[in-house]
Amino acid sequence: MDRMEVTETFAGISLPGHLHTEESLRFASSFQFQDTDVVIVTYPKSGKTSLLHRLCCWVPPPCSRHNPELEGTAPLGAGQGRACGHCSCLRVCLTPMSFVCSRSQVIYMARNPKDVAVSFYHFHKMARVTSESQPSLLSAVQYGSWFDHVKGWLSQRAELDLFYITYEDLHQLGRSVERLADWLGCPLQPEESRAIQQHCSFSSMRENTMVNYTLIPCEIMDHSRGRFMRKGTGVGDWRDHFTPVQNMHFHKIYQEEMQDSSLRFRGLM
Ligand code: A3P
Repeated sequence: MDRMEVTETFAGISLPGHLHTEESLRFASSFQFQDTDVVIVTYPKSGKTSLLHRLCCWVPPPCSRHNPELEGTAPLGAGQGRACGHCSCLRVCLTPMSFVCSRSQVIYMARNPKDVAVSFYHFHKMARVTSESQPSLLSAVQYGSWFDHVKGWLSQRAELDLFYITYEDLHQLGRSVERLADWLGCPLQPEESRAIQQHCSFSSMRENTMVNYTLIPCEIMDHSRGRFMRKGTGVGDWRDHFTPVQNMHFHKIYQEEMQDSSLRFRGLM
């Protein structure tokens, strides 16, 4: 079997069934968020692994509550009053009621959607648990459309305690981690920030088996077809992949979908 064709559909959105089973989705809908929780939200392939790794460097263990639905639940800052850090790729409309009612902090990270498309494309080649069809601009892609995800979460900015950051800023602007640390209420000294940037650089993470996914069995990720830590530094990598026609098509849809949005992405044009 080349690919595990397991897909769950939740509120009309297709999800990889190995991560989101019927049981875990049921459990998730009754999961109790607490005010001290921090939730990291990204559309797939937007740099979640890199962000989580950075956070784990200065807001350490342990964590007793685990929500299997929220992928990559990680211990965050128990010593600093934080109970738990969760990671989610789900759309805002799919989050449990207790989340909406809590004062959990949300870090929303978005990435230039053309680079997301390229990264997702390569990920699909190696991940045997994604659906057969390649990701596209259509909402049939697993986790739904990028536009719905980004617009949905950011439309809740006023209601949520939400920190917005882009993949490009996190990796290219020196002060991003410090701003995030201030917002989380656990500030960093400049030398600590520098050490984190170094420890979490693409080259360092690429060799770190704890985060580079190489320990994931080949039945799930076929490492002969590519690397999870693929290119990383490539802001605007889409230029090496999109044909002029694809770019025009993308641009047209982007303009339509984002006409009311003030979001800007470096390397998009
Ligand atoms: P590419 O495929 O473009 O290289 P996610 O963790 O949300 O699945 O995102 C994966 C993307 O983040 C991949 O993008 C991966 O290479 C990139 N990435 C992971 N760690 C990174 C780092 N330290 N610096 C820059 N990019 C990183």
